[in-house]
Amino acid sequence: MSSTAIETAGLVKTFGDNRAVDGIDLTVPAGTVYGVLGPNGAGKTTAVKMLATLLRPDGGEAHVFGHDVVREADAVRSRVSLTGQYASVDEDLTGLENLILLGRLTGHSKQAARGRAGQLLEAFGLTEAAARQVKNYSGGMRRRIDIAASILNTPDLLFLDEPTTGLDPRSRNQVWDIVRAVVGHGTTVLLTTQYLDEADQLAARIAVIDRGKVIAEGTKGELKASVGAGSVHVRLREAAQREEAARLLGAVLDAQVQLEPDPVALTARVGADGSGGADGVSGANGVSGADGGPGDTGAAAQASRALAELARAGITVDNFALGQPSLDEVFLALTGTDAAHQPPTNPATGSNDVKEEATA
Ligand SMILES: Nc1ncnc2c1ncn2[C@@H]1O[C@H](COP(=O)(O)OP(=O)(O)OP(=O)(O)O)[C@@H](O)[C@H]1O
Ligand SMILES: [Mg+2]
Repeated sequence: MSSTAIETAGLVKTFGDNRAVDGIDLTVPAGTVYGVLGPNGAGKTTAVKMLATLLRPDGGEAHVFGHDVVREADAVRSRVSLTGQYASVDEDLTGLENLILLGRLTGHSKQAARGRAGQLLEAFGLTEAAARQVKNYSGGMRRRIDIAASILNTPDLLFLDEPTTGLDPRSRNQVWDIVRAVVGHGTTVLLTTQYLDEADQLAARIAVIDRGKVIAEGTKGELKASVGAGSVHVRLREAAQREEAARLLGAVLDAQVQLEPDPVALTARVGADGSGGADGVSGANGVSGADGGPGDTGAAAQASRALAELARAGITVDNFALGQPSLDEVFLALTGTDAAHQPPTNPATGSNDVKEEATA
């Protein structure tokens, strides 16, 4: 198998004068989860549809496992599966019937289809709902049956277009576990999401897209490092000690210290190595922790040195927090806009009313 699952160069899709996908270059390594992160209307679904051969590009090229998505669409289709943003199973059939039907349609014997359906329903926690019509499923069950349908025949590449939008935290976690399991079995997953924490949880590499363009690409650590490593928030017992504390923190951390409006509070960047910006990816930054949690030795070590220094100087710290930059902060730094509050590109049509468009 090729070690590159997806390769695009200058991929373009226009709708009238709207360049929904405006020259996207992507390289997705096989066997991993690749996150495509962007706000409403960024062009995620449009890009996925081109890669899944459902929409014909207007410019550029895309290859899936080495096959051109236009000239070798059949070869691409035989390797991929798509779980759309809008569910595609038959509402009037039960979960079990849907999966059996799909199995039969894709060439399984009656017995094999039934067996695989039962296996998937079990794995997705849907055994109890197996005999219920899908139209009576909850949103979370619906998402799960949809993903089950898309992996009935284990694809080499699975497109998951916003698989957890609208799900409660428990259902989201279930879907995340499913995604991890799917990748564990060797499938490459291209996942689109508007949720920064979702990309952070699942994806090895992330492309941030905005208005049809890739505005950043890299591992989570690289993206985080591009906006700085993290910050230490300190609250002191005595406002009178703040000047001295700021001086010490600045010296120990070799960083800019900010005095907060609260007269006992100050904030300092940690992990900043003086070089700043995207080049600041270094061991000392320690931003590459897989869970983004506080087990971040570089920043934590620096922060605890700073605290020790304050204690030695007789400065009492009431409260202390070590924060890592979130992907939200990354997005903010990259676009200058808060992802969550970005207006849709085309408020007139509303990007969620997208109709399926068949390619010839
Ligand atoms: N079939 C279509 N006809 C006309 N415009 C379209 C069509 N499909 C998408 N668009 C437009 O292309 C742009 C990108 O839409 P797309 O659905 O790819 O965004 P998205 O990133 O998937 O957004 P969301 O997070 O809301 O699903 C939007 O401005 C949308 O209105
Ligand atoms: Mg979409």
